Amino acid sequence: MNTTYETIFNEEQIPKIGFGTWRIGGGSHPDPAQDSVSRAALRTALQVGYTHFDTAEVYADGHSEELIGQAIRETGVKRDALFITTKVDPEHLKYEQVFKACEGSRQRLGMDYIDLYLIHWPLAGMKFEETFRALNKLVHDGKVRHLGVSNFSVKLLKQSQEHSETPIITNQVPYSITDRSYVKNGILEYCQQNDILLTAYSPVEKGRLKPNQILRSIAEAHNAKPYQIALAWLISQPSVVTIPMSLNPQHIKENFEAVNIILTEKEIKSLNGLA
Ligand SMILES: NC(=O)c1ccc[n+]([C@@H]2O[C@H](COP(=O)([O-])OP(=O)(O)OC[C@H]3O[C@@H](n4cnc5c(N)ncnc54)[C@H](OP(=O)(O)O)[C@@H]3O)[C@@H](O)[C@H]2O)c1
Repeated sequence: MNTTYETIFNEEQIPKIGFGTWRIGGGSHPDPAQDSVSRAALRTALQVGYTHFDTAEVYADGHSEELIGQAIRETGVKRDALFITTKVDPEHLKYEQVFKACEGSRQRLGMDYIDLYLIHWPLAGMKFEETFRALNKLVHDGKVRHLGVSNFSVKLLKQSQEHSETPIITNQVPYSITDRSYVKNGILEYCQQNDILLTAYSPVEKGRLKPNQILRSIAEAHNAKPYQIALAWLISQPSVVTIPMSLNPQHIKENFEAVNIILTEKEIKSLNGLA
């Protein structure tokens, strides 16, 4: 069993632990004062060995994408060794807007193609036919390799599958060891049964996860940190990958190394009971 990647459709390998970039380059707006910290975090992530980077056109209003592109060029990591995910904003789901948004992301990243392009959030009353006509063309034209969605219920995911000419490879949703509120809607089971990855975002609850005694003692048994166990628990589940974010070099490294922690059945069982 390969413990580093999830394989879908017998061909594409997606790293089980990728690097989230919300707050890289700023919050909702660019914050140049954060650039040096953001650049250092991205450099560390690339050096440590992350190959999946998750961003969005709205992160720091595009500046997160710019910094990712710059860091990749500076560190000299080959483009084809990387898996880059970015997202189209729900305000840009009309036919022409989708092309414009994708072009903007490709320009800011400085990349010919995007590995995975997600609809960031569903929009009430969104026209699936129109949006997917544009997304399908992006795939057809080689600008995007795979399509996915984010924050979609089972019902909306099924609608996306009906309109996508290529498989929807992921639904990115909030999921962590102590916050399973979103996945209670059946989305995890649906993804697992249909060869779709569930990408768990906010996997350490934005740094607010409070380790209890069970998490602490399992961490001790593995000579690891409780947050690493929280990540190892997520990726121990079939079809689940995750994208923790950190600006701290030590945390960046620890999160990446969580992929090497293999939990026992007994440990998984007691962690399952934590929610
Ligand atoms: N699709 C969507 O709608 C959506 C929504 C939210 C997030 N996302 C994506 O998912 C990524 C991850 O989610 P997130 O950023 O919301 O939350 P997160 O990864 O759960 O938490 C990030 C926070 O946790 C802290 N942290 C991370 N690793 C740690 C560790 N090993 N030990 C201690 N603290 C640690 C970080 O602080 P330090 O910097 O101090 O380490 C940071 O403040 C985002 O960056 C983004 O790419 C997507």
